[in-house]
Amino acid sequence: MTAKATYQFAGKTILITGGAGDIGKATAHRFAANGAGVVLLDLNEAKMADVAEELKEYNVPVATFSCDVTAADDVAKAFSGAVQQLGQIHYVFNNAGYQGVFAKTDEYPEDDFQKVININVVGVFHVLKAAAQHLRDAGGGAIVNTASYAGVVSPPNMLAYGASKFAVIGMTQTAAKDLAPYGIRVNSLSPALIGPGFMWTRQTELQAAVGSQYFDANPKVVEQQMIDSVPMRRLGSLEEVANGVAFLMSEEASYITGFNLEITGGQ
Ligand SMILES: NC(=O)c1ccc[n+]([C@@H]2O[C@H](COP(=O)([O-])OP(=O)(O)OC[C@H]3O[C@@H](n4cnc5c(N)ncnc54)[C@H](O)[C@@H]3O)[C@@H](O)[C@H]2O)c1
Repeated sequence: MTAKATYQFAGKTILITGGAGDIGKATAHRFAANGAGVVLLDLNEAKMADVAEELKEYNVPVATFSCDVTAADDVAKAFSGAVQQLGQIHYVFNNAGYQGVFAKTDEYPEDDFQKVININVVGVFHVLKAAAQHLRDAGGGAIVNTASYAGVVSPPNMLAYGASKFAVIGMTQTAAKDLAPYGIRVNSLSPALIGPGFMWTRQTELQAAVGSQYFDANPKVVEQQMIDSVPMRRLGSLEEVANGVAFLMSEEASYITGFNLEITGGQ
């Protein structure tokens, strides 16, 4: 994968959580292609090492940290390690997330509800707080939190995920107000139906398996049902999501904060 360069981020550094996943990796390529140093944080060390290896083609500084965003100590250690290795961080892409199981509300499992909230809300809070402290002390910067279109219009069978992403959009709005005096912009991103990728495959298979009135029992038919709900009649690409992150972090967005950018093909 080689990303095109448009916005210029030379001399800047971006920290990306969920950096081993599909959207994190595409965004790492986008920023590295535009000259930024990249710090990856993820639970999945093997996949993160693969992404770091791929980024060598751009000749920018890259660091990786094994980090569970649900543990505040892990997040603090990763931030201080990142600063030691790469110096000041300018952008934080708060992106690690978990989709949860797919189940009707009357059957949604308690333990998974807690897990989704822990990763997508408490984890996002830990990273947001650490980013706010670092960027405040550094004199400013930009944060993008990955929400989802499920945080705008919640889909069936995704009770915890929808709730968690509504929370991400809410935290973005408060943080944007709190951090504006420090020169820190905070925005969120709400993709929907992005693929190919792990979450796309997983959601079509699991929506089919639930056996609800909303989707067919065949995942291939579910794919088509979902694409038919998109005015542009296609999936969005990982690169199109990364483009949204680049815009929100860039100087071109210098008066934009507290905004939720929907990347949905018109849904
Ligand atoms: N792909 C989509 O269609 C889509 C649509 C809307 C929103 N999103 C959101 O985008 C973000 C990235 O999703 P993706 O599609 O790249 O999925 P992905 O599963 O490929 O990547 C998610 C990454 O987060 C990491 N992660 C999970 N829990 C973690 C934890 N506790 N600490 C650290 N890392 C952890 C995983 O190891 C994984 O590498 C998520 O927040 C997701 O909810 C994705």
